[in-house]
Amino acid sequence: MKDYNKITSLFKRKGFIWGPSPEIYEGGLAGFYDLGPLGTLLFNNIANTLRAAFFEEKYYEITAPIIMPKKVWEASGHAGGFTDPLVKCTKCGAYFRSDKLITEAHPKEEVDGLTLKEYDTKIDKLGIKCLTCKGQLSKSEPINMMLKTVIGVNTEAFLRPETATTTYLPFKRYYDFFRNKLPFSVFQLGKAFRNEISPRQGLLRLREFNQAEAQLFIFKGEKNKFEEFKEHEKDELPLVTYKAQEKNKFKPVKIKLKEAISKKIIQNKAYATSLAIAYNTIIELGLKEERIRIRQHHPNERAFYALDAWDIEYKTDCFGWVELAGVHDRGDYDLTQHAKYSGQDLSVKNNGKNEVPHILEIAMGVERLLYITLEQAYEEEKERTVLKIPLVLAPIEVKVLPLMKKDGLAEKADEVYELMLDQGLYAEYDETGSIGRRYRRADEEGVPFCITIDHDTLKDESVTVRDRDSMKQTRVKISELDEFLDMALEGEIDF
Ligand code: GAP
Repeated sequence: MKDYNKITSLFKRKGFIWGPSPEIYEGGLAGFYDLGPLGTLLFNNIANTLRAAFFEEKYYEITAPIIMPKKVWEASGHAGGFTDPLVKCTKCGAYFRSDKLITEAHPKEEVDGLTLKEYDTKIDKLGIKCLTCKGQLSKSEPINMMLKTVIGVNTEAFLRPETATTTYLPFKRYYDFFRNKLPFSVFQLGKAFRNEISPRQGLLRLREFNQAEAQLFIFKGEKNKFEEFKEHEKDELPLVTYKAQEKNKFKPVKIKLKEAISKKIIQNKAYATSLAIAYNTIIELGLKEERIRIRQHHPNERAFYALDAWDIEYKTDCFGWVELAGVHDRGDYDLTQHAKYSGQDLSVKNNGKNEVPHILEIAMGVERLLYITLEQAYEEEKERTVLKIPLVLAPIEVKVLPLMKKDGLAEKADEVYELMLDQGLYAEYDETGSIGRRYRRADEEGVPFCITIDHDTLKDESVTVRDRDSMKQTRVKISELDEFLDMALEGEIDF
């Protein structure tokens, strides 16, 4: 088990995650964090890996505004229904989320899909009092989670609580762009804002965060004829169906998608393909398969319009199972709602008849991926602490270290450093402290390879390359370094 305070203090010290932000003003606000220099490089690497993975599956990226007028959120259902249940202490005035209050005190209690009244009955029955002063709690009330703003003088507007709604709106523009042919797919990676009540889980529950949300627009009748399914039918996914959960079985069972479709565990081929794309992308980021499950929502748990919904969850050391992504079959709900509220026809021709397409959605949280990447990477070994960040995501790829500053070693190291930069690598030069200390520093920053320049380098133009994970070293000619590092960063060198 990893200690949250210990690991996050390393992430802070090494410039990954700072906060809550703004730290210098009374310790900052819960749910807001800064990403430091290494955190930002890591974020960008995750974001770009997601971008490449979606593009490979023919999802095109778009960018929409973050602020939208109230009417958009009335149409989407967020103005009315995007709420959290809240109780207030009648003595000290502190607020708590009803569901979290119950599960924090009694982790085994089931709270999904409860009504406000049912929360209150549970709180009473379990004798839960104010966490701050033990005072009596009020009845639960729904509190909207959107952050409000004003455009111009008095136009009411909201910061988007998800990227998805803002992606649906230019549907007719996509239809033109994709030459009037469905299915097509788009995605957006950007900020979302939620006024979470007393968030206490660091980067897992933020008030300002990034989502990568991808949508496939498809006619209902085409969902089970989806061509791309062929490329994924042999993919094995770790599924936990809602029926298994009803029997208290939460251990995932690996099932080939072809079998999942034939046994009607997953309803259609297009949706199964969306699940595979989401899962494969998460694996590509280097998250460990044995810690992942794909859990189906119980019909009581999912939104009333959703035809099917599964969450991809990861078993963290510090917080147990955490939702990384949701994959939802949203039917024609979104386009129908926005057509109604905007007065625009959002149907398109299908075999001569007008039809509103369905949306299949993959929704991921980028900061959750970032925190989990770091938590998974953190290892304490006998002599060192090391961040074994997956090679594709390492913020700094190589460090160049002269064994000592004198005898021309620093100058030679600087030459090698320039070579690394010319090769397009994220390289750093470090000449401060003993070589052992510099290796430890690189390990704590998750740098996969260190290149050491010593006196032999001046004689034979070779350097030592040290592998972060095994700490093994090998000698490489400077003239062969670019090819060697390309292969090493692909994981193709066995040290
Ligand atoms: N469009 C559907 C949607 O937004 P969601 O399950 O509410 O679905 C999708 O959010 C993903 O966004 C989640 O799986 C999670 O990774 C991330 N997410 C949601 N709320 C978050 C928060 N407060 N802080 C950080 N990430 C969050």
